Parts: sequence; C-alpha cells; structure tokens
Amino acid sequence: MTSSLSRVGFGFYLLGCFVIAWDRIMSSEHRFRGALSEEYSLIRLAIPHFEELQACVGEVVSRYPSDDGGQRIQVLEIGCGDGVTSAKILSSRKDCFLTALDSEEKMIGQASANLRRDLQDNRCRFVLCDALAHLRSLPSGSVDIVASALALHNMERSYRDALNAEVFRSLKPDGLFVNADKFVMGDEQRFQALQVSLEKLFDVLVPLGKLDLLREGVLHNVADQAPDRVMRQEDTVEALRRLGFAPIEIPYQDDLQAVLVASKPGLAEPG
Ligand SMILES: C[S@@+](CC[C@H](N)C(=O)[O-])C[C@H]1O[C@@H](n2cnc3c(N)ncnc32)[C@H](O)[C@@H]1O
Repeated sequence: MTSSLSRVGFGFYLLGCFVIAWDRIMSSEHRFRGALSEEYSLIRLAIPHFEELQACVGEVVSRYPSDDGGQRIQVLEIGCGDGVTSAKILSSRKDCFLTALDSEEKMIGQASANLRRDLQDNRCRFVLCDALAHLRSLPSGSVDIVASALALHNMERSYRDALNAEVFRSLKPDGLFVNADKFVMGDEQRFQALQVSLEKLFDVLVPLGKLDLLREGVLHNVADQAPDRVMRQEDTVEALRRLGFAPIEIPYQDDLQAVLVASKPGLAEPG
C-alpha cells in the first residue's frame, strides 16, 4: 500500500517537473519588464557597436530578391523593442511588409508610436506576443526573412533552440534568417566584453543620475552570461547548420557583436 502510494507520489512529481519544463520552453521570460523597457532608449546608448549592427540588418534585408509576382516580401522581426531595427528594415526597401513581435507591452507601445507613419501606410504591424508561440502558429514556408537584433541572447538555450527550429520551418525555401546580436567566442574575450559593456553603462547612466536603471542594466548584462543562456557563436552556427541552414555567413563582426545570415536552401531543381 505504502509503496503504491509512493509510486503515485513519484508520478505526480515527474508530471510536475514535466509541466514546469514544458512551460519554460513554451513561454518567454520577461527580462525587459519595467525600467528596461521604459528607458530602453538610454540603455541602447551603452550597447557596443549598436549602430553598425542595425545598419547591417538593413543592408542584408535590402539585398534579398524581390518577389517575381510583384507581391510584398514578408519579413518577421523577433524582439522589436522600441522599433529601431524595424525602422532600418522598413527604410531598406519599399516592397516589404513587416510583422514585428515583442513580449513587452511598453516596447510594442513605443514601437507603434515611433513607426506611426509606417503603420498608417500599412507597411507593418506590431504584435504583443511570445515569439515562439507566434512562430508555431505560422504555416510552414510562409516567411521570406526572419530578422532579429539583440533579442535572442536574452533567451534560455532550450527556448532559443526551439525558436531556431521554428524559424527554419516557417521560412520559405531561399528565405533568410538575419540575427544581429552578441555572440560569445572565448572566455577571455567574454570577460573583456562584459567589462566594456558595464563601463559603458556606468559612463552613460551615472552622469544622468539613473542609478536604478544602472543597477538593472548591470544585473541584466551579468545574467546574459549565465551557463544556460550564454550564446556562443560556434554553437549557434553549428546548431543552425544541423537544422539545415546553408550557407551561414557573417557579414559583420566586431568584438562580441556579429550578424549571422543563415539561408534556408532552395527547392532542388527538377532533374
Ligand atoms: C534588447 S531589445 C532589442 C530591440 C531592438 N531590436 C534593438 O536592436 O534595439 C530585445 C527585445 O526582445 C524582446 N524579447 C525577448 N524575448 C522575447 C520573446 N521570447 N518573445 C518576444 N519578444 C522577446 C524584449 O522584450 C526586448 O524588447
């Protein structure tokens, strides 16, 4: 009797573990809730090579071929924040429609305000949602370009792996995954880069007296380096290759900041 009860108890324990693990994979954390969303325009002043990353996303998007049938190409952006990357994408070409996702209401509010004109012109929409949940709802092969800047390094590895797989599935053949972010290489470089990031946060926020924001920024930067979160360039390229992306190119790299452009192979020519 006691042993069957303990077996039932163990079963519930396993079920609980499964539910918690599944919930972590399925739903995003909210690492930008509060001040980091409200004052993101200050935080981004302290991000190394910020302008170069954004410019490179725009340039890669601009080079993607137009649709033969004259349709607008579909671009999906993961983690749009206040819309800075969205603006680069939209100004890079006229023949695209952008769906930009973010899980923070304040970010979606700022992006919608900053790109009011593009919204009015029906060039984009901003969606408050979890990126993985949104990708899972898309038909396979329905998106031309998935773009993202400085969003994926915020995610836990298991979530990011699931997200990358969904990006591959939802892209059309010959579609592009453009990921501009900070990617760790070696431990020494990782340590130096953390030091530079923290110094920049101090330099920007202390003169403004934004000490609470400084605290949040420092803790956020340190937490980016947690073992279950840190995004290593080599692992990322390998994971994308295993999913089927080829080729994978790196048109921009400076310190940790890099832009990875992964292509989904096209349909084989009929033999
Ligand atoms: C550092 S901001 C980057 C914003 C902009 N792309 C830029 O380069 O400045 C990262 C954004 O990703 C969003 N984000 C993080 N995880 C997400 C998820 N799982 N689903 C949707 N948005 C997410 C955050 O809310 C945040 O606004």
